[in-house]
Amino acid sequence: MLRSSWSARRSQGDGRPIVSSAASHKLWFVPGPVALCGGCLGAALAVLGPSVALADPPRPYWHPGPPWAPLAPATPEMHEISNLFWGMLAISAVVFLFVTIFLILSVVRYTAKPGQVGEPKQVFGNRAVEITWTLIPTFILLVAFIFTVNAIRDINSPKQGKILDIYAIGHQWWWQFDYHSLRVTTADELHVPVGVPIHFHVTSNDVIHSFWSPQLERQIDANPGIDNAVYVEYNRPGVFSGTCYEYCGTEHAFMKYRVVVQSAAQFKAWVAHEHRPPLAGSYQSQSGAKASAVNTALIAAGEKVFSKNTCVDCHTISGVSGGVVGPNLTHLGSRWTVGAGAAPMSEQVLEKWIYDPATYKPGIIMPAYTFLSKHDLHALATYLINLK
Ligand code: CUA
Repeated sequence: MLRSSWSARRSQGDGRPIVSSAASHKLWFVPGPVALCGGCLGAALAVLGPSVALADPPRPYWHPGPPWAPLAPATPEMHEISNLFWGMLAISAVVFLFVTIFLILSVVRYTAKPGQVGEPKQVFGNRAVEITWTLIPTFILLVAFIFTVNAIRDINSPKQGKILDIYAIGHQWWWQFDYHSLRVTTADELHVPVGVPIHFHVTSNDVIHSFWSPQLERQIDANPGIDNAVYVEYNRPGVFSGTCYEYCGTEHAFMKYRVVVQSAAQFKAWVAHEHRPPLAGSYQSQSGAKASAVNTALIAAGEKVFSKNTCVDCHTISGVSGGVVGPNLTHLGSRWTVGAGAAPMSEQVLEKWIYDPATYKPGIIMPAYTFLSKHDLHALATYLINLK
């Protein structure tokens, strides 16, 4: 059911989220029994793993990752967590089987036979049985406890070697990523190198969020004023999804981020790219989103519109403005999405977004710029998409 909603959402060509139409609400309404079957199916698919027909969809603007993402770990840390899950599932399956077999046997064996009268023989207490059913669960919990503590120790131990510190800051409703040592700040797209131990400092600018990339890292709360640590070391490149995992207000669902795990050389190139002036432009966006034919005059006009309006109070564009309320836009055009996963990155979307961002994200802090002329909006969007 989730997937059909996704398709419906994606089928909106301009990426406008479906927020108010009755039809969209119908999509989300699933009667109990169907939902139950869907749940069973989901569980079955999760068990069957990536070999089943639910292949990764063609890359949409927001890549939700496979539905079994937490069971498809891509880092040693997540492997350890998923191994714990499978171990516990195996133990639970054995217990379930054992209890079910004995339940059925008891029902068959002790049901009153035809012609039987009066109470059957009453038995009170059996020391051997009671000791056994106390000891077995104690033993199981002890084993689970030892393995869990061991995993916690492994995952929560600071890494050795040359560590890269990344500050992940939750905002309503987007993520800020600061690489102080590299002098890089970005939003909603996290670039990380393979083979370098990472220390994420997770915190929040407003309410409590939760930082989680199901295939890569454990969940951790992003609390205002608290520096929560996540240690991880990536061992294979790829593009992964991340999300806020704790309800944090109206647009919690659109607080997505992407994690681009790159080779050391690619990461170095990305950092160099981030240091370039905003309009250097030759960086090929990985979304494949092409800038419209570069119109120097229009871009210059767009920059003027940006500088003359309150955009500068909230957004940083290197060399142009220094606002820190909203996402850093220095290389906005190279990102996949607008609004932390709310819509695909395109000039058209940017134009509509600036006109009234609440059509994509109701409740958003950014105000509407409905007073801008059509020409100014177009120039501004052209300028922004060319920030590569
Ligand atoms: Cu931030 Cu949910």
